[in-house]
Amino acid sequence: MKKLVTVLCQLLVGGTFLLSGLVKAIDPVGTALKLTEYVQHFGLGFLAELSTALAWGLALFEFALGLFIFFGQHRRLFLTLGLLLMLVFTPLTLYLALYNPVDDCGCFGDAIVLTNWQTFWKNIVLLIAIVWLIFDRKNVAGWLAKDWYAFYFYAAMFVVAALCFVGSQHLPFIDFRPYRPGVSLRQLALGEPAQGEQSAQYFVIYEKDGIRQEFLLDSIPDEDSGWEFVDTRIVEAPGNRSSDGKTHSLVLFDAADQNVTTEVLSDTGYVFLLLSPDLRTADEHDMDCIDNLYEYAMQEGHAFYCVTLNDPQAVSRWSYRTGAEYRFLYADQQEIETMIRSNPGFMLLHDGVILWKSNLSGIDVPALTSAKLSEQSYGQIRPINRKKRVFWIFAWLISPLFLYLPLQFIYKLIKNKNKKMRKKIVAGNWKMNTTLQEGVALAEGLKAALAGKKVNCDVVVCTPFISVASVVKAVEGSVIGVGAEDCSEHDKGAYTGEVAANMVASTGAKYVILGHSERRQYHGENNAILVNKLNQALANGLTPIFCVGEVKEERENGTFKQVIEGQMEALYTLSAEDFAKVIVAYEPVWAIGTGLTATSDQAQEVHAFIRASIAKKYNAEIADNTSILYGGSCKGSNAPELFAQPDIDGGLIGGAALKVDTFMPIIEAWK
Ligand code: PGA
Repeated sequence: MKKLVTVLCQLLVGGTFLLSGLVKAIDPVGTALKLTEYVQHFGLGFLAELSTALAWGLALFEFALGLFIFFGQHRRLFLTLGLLLMLVFTPLTLYLALYNPVDDCGCFGDAIVLTNWQTFWKNIVLLIAIVWLIFDRKNVAGWLAKDWYAFYFYAAMFVVAALCFVGSQHLPFIDFRPYRPGVSLRQLALGEPAQGEQSAQYFVIYEKDGIRQEFLLDSIPDEDSGWEFVDTRIVEAPGNRSSDGKTHSLVLFDAADQNVTTEVLSDTGYVFLLLSPDLRTADEHDMDCIDNLYEYAMQEGHAFYCVTLNDPQAVSRWSYRTGAEYRFLYADQQEIETMIRSNPGFMLLHDGVILWKSNLSGIDVPALTSAKLSEQSYGQIRPINRKKRVFWIFAWLISPLFLYLPLQFIYKLIKNKNKKMRKKIVAGNWKMNTTLQEGVALAEGLKAALAGKKVNCDVVVCTPFISVASVVKAVEGSVIGVGAEDCSEHDKGAYTGEVAANMVASTGAKYVILGHSERRQYHGENNAILVNKLNQALANGLTPIFCVGEVKEERENGTFKQVIEGQMEALYTLSAEDFAKVIVAYEPVWAIGTGLTATSDQAQEVHAFIRASIAKKYNAEIADNTSILYGGSCKGSNAPELFAQPDIDGGLIGGAALKVDTFMPIIEAWK
């Protein structure tokens, strides 16, 4: 029961934030206007300049918060942020409810208009739900795997940012306000308000195969379904209350302060309205577009007005700059902002009914002016099917959820295809840890563990010299390859204690580790020595596993890439043909035997760097075919994540190679 309450609270809180973020994103200009009202009321007028940025920020923030809470990710952080937000907004909405400085809070934009008291109680419910969630955080459900969620998060945020962009650059993708195509402006502005009366009904008449049918605005058929627009029919009802429940009072005045609303809206022909809530801030690009439309309207005998805020200075400045000859009418700024979100924008009326509205760049002026309005689509109602648009928004938001798995599948296919050419290898480095008997027993144990198993990588064990020959024998008939941990830089002679590459090869061993950091550190091995060793190994048919890697200090001071590049120079003395026989192992010295592992991202970064360096030195094909192993506290627990990186082709394993039980899971990490 408790768990159910928690999940319901999670859906409620997450869902509410998602919705409020989304509607703000759909109409960012409306959100910015609302924010301007707020900041001005609270004496923070200087913030009004930033209102658009704030609107975007608020929309994206609320939506992101909604996503995190809804999907139960990073619970502690985002529930705390949600709580903080509610602790700010709840007292604020109480203040709004008590003193009514703004009509409605704008929580859900113009989509769902709540009274200030309704908003306050809504916030109380949300606050209680968030507090509940914080107390019962462990029961908050996490719906998606981390990677899946991360993918979805970015995809959904992209959709929301795109909506913000469309809403800012054009008009809102869904218009929540009353001034929509098909609505009678005449009735909205001139109808007498009447309590309890139904508002007007607008029907659009379409024809198909000789049959005419009337559709309500919200259920208009698709153009490609064969229905053709014929006409509109309006069943007028008195009252100027519109779909948003508010009373709208568009009153138009002329320069002499005469109310000309009836005169303008009674025009039975076409009327062009150039709308600008404020000419001072209107976009002055596309002036030609306005001029051409004006000329066209004059030529065709249509009325053309610019409806704006009564600011004589701004009007005369505009007229001077643009050479405007049209008539200016004045209206309430907020009402103009409700009519159109762009500044300026166009609205075309016919017989008092809004046919369409658009920002300037949304109008194809040459097409519009090429024919009589009555003979083309610009002269008809251009209805916007809002249900369809709501559907599309949900489709865009939901579809990435289902895209993740197929995309990941394709990604893996491509990644594995790229990896196919080079060998996957898990090699053990026993170091100085095993006696002859222990080494043979370990090799036999490994052979037994691998017997009959499907092994998806090459398995190698590099042993102390003393056991190489015996281990080669012990693993005969298995998939295991054997190597030494070093070889001499000389081919033969008076080098007491040394073992030459041809001696290693004579045991049947196939590999040799060269340049391990412990040899570099304790035996002073440098590039000059290593070049000799490489040549010895290759001349005797051994495959070098050549180690490179930085010490802690070099990682910390950021020189590690230069250090690694410097160590690679020894390899770069080889011909392309010889280089192609080498296996590279990246072993950050600070991670060897310390229990510290490079993160898979850190390791991948260096592996990619090494591969790019090889490509530069030789060519992309050789780089693609070179196996690069990771070494340094690699274990069964971290191997899968490391090996999943595109440039990590396996591991060189120290400590964990000394027991069959710890070595096997690393081999099995190659699924
Ligand atoms: P480690 O050693 O796995 O014990 O860290 C790796 C190596 O030195 O090759």
